[in-house]
Amino acid sequence: MRHPWPLERPLAEAFQTTILPAARAARYAALAEEVAAVLEGEPNLTARMATVAAMLSHAFEAYFWTGFYLVDPERPGELVVGPYQGTLGCLRIAFGRGVCGAAAAERRTVIVPDVEAFPGHIACDTRSRSEIVVPVLGPEGALIGVFDVDSTELAAFDETDAAGLERILAETFSR
Ligand code: SME
Repeated sequence: MRHPWPLERPLAEAFQTTILPAARAARYAALAEEVAAVLEGEPNLTARMATVAAMLSHAFEAYFWTGFYLVDPERPGELVVGPYQGTLGCLRIAFGRGVCGAAAAERRTVIVPDVEAFPGHIACDTRSRSEIVVPVLGPEGALIGVFDVDSTELAAFDETDAAGLERILAETFSR
């Protein structure tokens, strides 16, 4: 009988590297339209954030904690927790601290495949193993806060998630 490799190996690799990311990208694209449809005509920022957190957290198996940390106008240099779905989150994070603080200070998406390897990572729930944090900008380009997603799986997020989340957040909060 012929050994299953090397016939199956390219298929397995293609599944991991091409098919799964493509399915996720398609899901983000569909979600972008669904979020826009649900939020049509709703100007309230809290309602918009709560809706984004709820819709995204239910769309992906890998999402364990999903939500916002917002720039606090009353305490410059601090983020304060906003609408989220998941277990109890830390209330405040200083700019520059943890993954959220880094993404806010540097205004760039941060992907952390293993939170234990990230210096200063803040463990609100020790079950979180990997994380992605995307800055959220308002229409004038000012930083509103960050969107944080944690997973109990290692390396749950990659560029596909970054692109999908950046698009949804830009379309929802930057226009
Ligand atoms: N892990 C984050 C803190 C927020 S929570 O995990 C909900 C961080 O290091 O910024």
